[in-house]
Amino acid sequence: MSTIDEIKARIDIVDLVSEAGVKLRHAGKNYTGFCPFHDNKHTPAFVVWPESGTWRCFGQCNEGGDIFKFMMKREGLEFKDALAKLADRAGVKLESFVAEKPEIKEAHEHLRALLEDAIIFYRTHLFNNKDVLTYLREKRGLTDATIETFGMGYAPHGYDNLLKAFKSKGYREQDLIDAGMLSVRDADDSRNTQHTARTYDRFRNRIMIPIRDENGKMAGFGARIVDPNDIPKFLNSPETPIFTKGHILYGLDRARKPIRMADQAVIVEGYLDVIALHQAGYENVVSPMGTALTEDQLRLLKRSTRRIVLALDPDVAGQKAVLRGLDAVRSAMDREGELGFDARGLLRNEARLQADLRVASMPDDLDPDEIVARDKDEWKRLIENAKPIVTHVMDSLAVGQNLNDAKVKNQIAAQVLPLIEDLPSPLERDTYRQALARMLRVDEGSLTLTQTQGAVVRRKPRGADQAQRVEKNQVVALNPTLKIEAYCIGVLFRKPALLYRLDRTLQEVGLSALAVEDFEYTDHQLVFGVIRMAVEQDEKDYQHYVISHLPETISAVSKDLLAQTEQLDPVDDKLLEELLARFMDLRRAYAMSNVNQLRFLQEEEQQQGGVNLKLYQEQTVQFTKLLKNLDQARKKISSKR
Ligand code: CTP
Ligand code: MN
Repeated sequence: MSTIDEIKARIDIVDLVSEAGVKLRHAGKNYTGFCPFHDNKHTPAFVVWPESGTWRCFGQCNEGGDIFKFMMKREGLEFKDALAKLADRAGVKLESFVAEKPEIKEAHEHLRALLEDAIIFYRTHLFNNKDVLTYLREKRGLTDATIETFGMGYAPHGYDNLLKAFKSKGYREQDLIDAGMLSVRDADDSRNTQHTARTYDRFRNRIMIPIRDENGKMAGFGARIVDPNDIPKFLNSPETPIFTKGHILYGLDRARKPIRMADQAVIVEGYLDVIALHQAGYENVVSPMGTALTEDQLRLLKRSTRRIVLALDPDVAGQKAVLRGLDAVRSAMDREGELGFDARGLLRNEARLQADLRVASMPDDLDPDEIVARDKDEWKRLIENAKPIVTHVMDSLAVGQNLNDAKVKNQIAAQVLPLIEDLPSPLERDTYRQALARMLRVDEGSLTLTQTQGAVVRRKPRGADQAQRVEKNQVVALNPTLKIEAYCIGVLFRKPALLYRLDRTLQEVGLSALAVEDFEYTDHQLVFGVIRMAVEQDEKDYQHYVISHLPETISAVSKDLLAQTEQLDPVDDKLLEELLARFMDLRRAYAMSNVNQLRFLQEEEQQQGGVNLKLYQEQTVQFTKLLKNLDQARKKISSKR
């Protein structure tokens, strides 16, 4: 799979569009909403097809595309930048044109070496500072062995300790900035009168915790305050070329093997919790770094186990707030993000990754490190008793509520049912529905009812069983149209000259020549555009032209396309026939799904006496005509044989 296909497979278009502020409503197999690209707010004309990862506005814009096109339009980006953004979101490294370059790799190694040196620097300062050392040993109960193992250190007071020391070692100031060790003062920042240099030590008077990636390579630092009045409580390295918070789990380099052995990973919220738990002998523990848990982080764990337990903060009120999507409580505090208990997101990831996610809540207002300090075995019990996400949500919503109150019942059901309906397995759905009914002491039948009446359910209730779901999750990868498109574009890429003959044949049977619109995916459209240009020039050999004119960003795809089409039928006539049939299939599928969609939109529009009715009718006529033409063309072709 090419990097671009991997991004398509990993990003759910429904999520992407919803996050861009479009409220999507479930309609048949698809979702509809108001088009974000034009401002008719009368009736929804914007349609999303989750299976193919595509969208289309049947209203004024009359435009559509895939996730990339959506980003490009929405944010006014070029393909290259939309690709970079979505790659980042999907946790896919665009290696083909980033990490592969040796000079970049070397630069990264250099930054890592600098950070290794910084560990030594901070370590020396720690062992010279009795107070901080005593704090770690006595207040936090850490042994010297643990302090060493985790490479902990101390960044001294002052604005230029590290700056001076590292400059005299021969590091350039720019390297220190790139590694995230120095802060750069804004030109007009006059607040800081103590220190007026342009750059200064980012970390001052803090306990330093080195952060390594899953392979143990140095990536950055987390730094905790020593003085309780300082803010923020934790200061991390900024995002650097080697430090992306959303892609790293703290402690994973040490936890990987233990996770595999225990066939279980535990996620906690704090660096010091990870350290304390490892010291207590629980080595399968990692934590994110003050940001919400990302799918990419879960994927990292999934390589070692599918059984993952989230050890959540004891803050029950906070959890509830998050459950309701009001995480104002936390964001008002000084942290950037949090482990973030977004039940729906987690459940979706759980299904998508086929993981087993559970939640353990910490008792008595204690952090994990305090729990192991009080009783080592208690940790074990807590983790063993971790509950599935839905159960956790049900239980925490019920805490302190009067379950005899009909309003309360209704509220809880309204929050839990959408989660249940979203579960891929019918068995699980049944089990949880029963459990919810039992908890609320209501009839199971009345539960489903409430749900259908409370109409705004964002995700469709799934009729699919687990097996189907698995397939659905590789959706975009296995999506038939995507595959056919990729095949067709791959053949044309190899043999651009076929495009001529293809166009001619299409026109002979009464159809239009191939166009960019025959492709739904932006990368294919781009490649097609170049192939089209190639056959319209006559200075260079076609294939040579294509290769030298492809945007750098899709060179990764092109390698893949070439590989896929290695064993083509050597007889051009056969290839041509095959391509013709495929392109007609694509056009038919596209027209069919549009006609079906338009029928639905028209029905809605009629009820609302809408303004788009005429537009829809015109389009329906157009697509119906196309379908008829395709039928006739097919007949002509077979009679010719
Ligand atoms: N965090 C962060 N930025 C902040 C606050 C917290 O990145 N401003 C992250 C850190 O990874 C931290 C975790 O969130 O380890 C948990 O924060 P918190 O519960 O406040 O700290 P503890 O780890 O419990 O630290 P301590 O026990 O030392 O108070
Ligand atoms: Mn703590």
